[in-house]
Amino acid sequence: MIGLKDKYKDYFKIGAAVNYRTVDTHKDLLIKHFNSITCENETKYDNLQKEENNYSFDHADRILGFAKDNNMFMRGHTFVWHNQTPDWVFKDATRDILLDRMKNHMTHVGKRYEKDFYCWDVVNEAIEDKGHMFYRKSPWIDIIGEDFMDLAFTYAKEILPEADLYYNDYNESNFPKRDKIYRAVKDMLDRGVPVDGIGLQCHWNIYSPSMDDFKRAMEQYAKLGIKIQVTEMDISLYEFKDDSKLDKPSSELISRQTALYREGFKILRDYKDIVDTVTLWGVADDETWLDYFPVKDRKNWPLLFDEAHEPKEALYAIMDF
Ligand code: G3I
Repeated sequence: MIGLKDKYKDYFKIGAAVNYRTVDTHKDLLIKHFNSITCENETKYDNLQKEENNYSFDHADRILGFAKDNNMFMRGHTFVWHNQTPDWVFKDATRDILLDRMKNHMTHVGKRYEKDFYCWDVVNEAIEDKGHMFYRKSPWIDIIGEDFMDLAFTYAKEILPEADLYYNDYNESNFPKRDKIYRAVKDMLDRGVPVDGIGLQCHWNIYSPSMDDFKRAMEQYAKLGIKIQVTEMDISLYEFKDDSKLDKPSSELISRQTALYREGFKILRDYKDIVDTVTLWGVADDETWLDYFPVKDRKNWPLLFDEAHEPKEALYAIMDF
């Protein structure tokens, strides 16, 4: 079997989220099938700068070393997010103080990896899921104001003129959130804010979104005229509100998952001119964040390789074209 990245060489890069352990434990799959890497946690604010001006780059550097040794691209994840950001960042912060902290962090981290990271998720998950609100409530917007995204992208472009700068979010295919994400990015572009791409996380499950909704979302985002990346794809075998536990996945559930991967990748291939990378949020089913979320210690099987690192039906399905 040829590598997934080789099958897709005329379409887009194929990425995986890794952590500082899986670059060892999953290295054979990574080297054969993937050519882009995202750190699952290691390049987030609280991993890099837990205390002010006290940076720890060891884990991120280890992952970067692996990527370089194997000629893989690296994406940066993420600068401005309400989650995994240490409390000190917001403590006693005025607008100016918080903007200063944002800029210092981007400068320190961004410059260190300037030659190595081809893109950054500059702002992550800033749009509200529920109908009546536009922005998600967070200390960033509370303290800085509604221009916090404009400023984040503007600083990032000054610091990293060569990197592609992304707005990244989940529930990207669902109405009305997809309209809000589109509008937020469109308005920034109209104001001249330097956004180079939109990151669609694609944390799906076998019941949602429908592929009609994904197609509509792609049609809409394509109108922005900027790059698209799928940044965190996986397909859970549970409906979001279901808290039951399975001992193992039935063949029926695996078939549904396979069909969604097949159809999702087919749609993505139709947009190959603007889709830059498709990243899976993990490598194989033995290590996935979905074993802890939304139900703690419940096994899930959301990826393209099984717990023994063997290809699943879904892998064959997305290579069958
Ligand atoms: O590092 C500590 C460890 O010291 C401690 O013993 C352990 C106890 O629970 O926790 C460890 O930290 C965990 C961390 O992952 C590293 O494993 C955190 O509790 C846990 O909350 C954290 O979860 C991460 C989650 O983001 C947090 O929001 C997931 O691994 C990571 O996959 C997930 O990734 C996010 C993307 O960044 C943004 N989009 C959604 C996606 C899924 O939630």
